[in-house]
Amino acid sequence: MTAKPSVLITGASTGIGAGYADRFARRGHDLVLVARNAARMEALAERLRSETGVTVDIMTADLADPTERAVVETRLRDDAQIEILINNAGTTLAGTFLDQSTDDVERLVTLNTTALVRLAHAIAPRLAQSGKGAIVNIGSVVGLAPEFGMAVYGATKAFALYLSQALNLQLGPQGVYVQAVLPATTRTEIWDHAGVDVDTLSGVMEVNDLVDAALAGFDRREAVTIPPLHEVGKWDAYDAARQAMLPGISQSQPAARYIADA
Ligand SMILES: NC(=O)c1ccc[n+]([C@@H]2O[C@H](COP(=O)([O-])OP(=O)(O)OC[C@H]3O[C@@H](n4cnc5c(N)ncnc54)[C@H](OP(=O)(O)O)[C@@H]3O)[C@@H](O)[C@H]2O)c1
Repeated sequence: MTAKPSVLITGASTGIGAGYADRFARRGHDLVLVARNAARMEALAERLRSETGVTVDIMTADLADPTERAVVETRLRDDAQIEILINNAGTTLAGTFLDQSTDDVERLVTLNTTALVRLAHAIAPRLAQSGKGAIVNIGSVVGLAPEFGMAVYGATKAFALYLSQALNLQLGPQGVYVQAVLPATTRTEIWDHAGVDVDTLSGVMEVNDLVDAALAGFDRREAVTIPPLHEVGKWDAYDAARQAMLPGISQSQPAARYIADA
């Protein structure tokens, strides 16, 4: 029997990342867990080792820190056992754009976008070379909705969606699957960081339901998986409208509405 590939999961100390760790361990994959809180990852690793028998490695790293992140990038470049990257680590900020400090905004963008793309870039050449493997980027429905009032967080999640769709098109023909997962409100600690009591919100999904649905999309090789969206036709119509715009989008002359009346 061929050994199953290892899975590197960022943000695996709690929340959605810990949910992915549990599910991939139960599927028989060895794991590499990445986050800052070593004690939490060690407790999770201990449980998963004893319950499933898989090997679980821990890498303690602040992915917003270039030096610490570089160690994870090197592991992704060099460790041929790792064929699946779950790019899940991410955070948010409380308040509106005007409330947030410039430094906090930069840290958020660094973790949610720079780390995401650097880790994808570290593993992608090796996966493309071997013609197999997967990169999963955790976006958010907020990335579709400027109306939700989470400007910078939503922009980082729009980045995750776009990057995933573009990489799926570029790497798919070389055998590498790229999935964007767009959760809506899910019961995790991220809401504490947002300064919101999750129990005051409606439509809250539990982590295991979210991860199981995301993995159903993964198994089907969906490019974009939106677990809370019941009417998939709405996504299909949205994407079809975007694509319908493309053939006429490059023109040498400005549109008539921008040309002053003679
Ligand atoms: N929960 C939701 O409602 C929701 C909805 C849509 C999308 N998402 C997305 O889902 C992903 C997971 O979020 P979650 O809800 O599970 O949040 P969470 O419970 O706050 O967990 C975030 C994880 O990321 C890690 N992390 C945070 N900052 C890090 C850093 N600088 N370096 C390394 N790891 C770091 C945390 O571990 P340490 O603190 O130990 O580093 C933790 O393991 C995020 O990308 C989030 O944007 C969540």
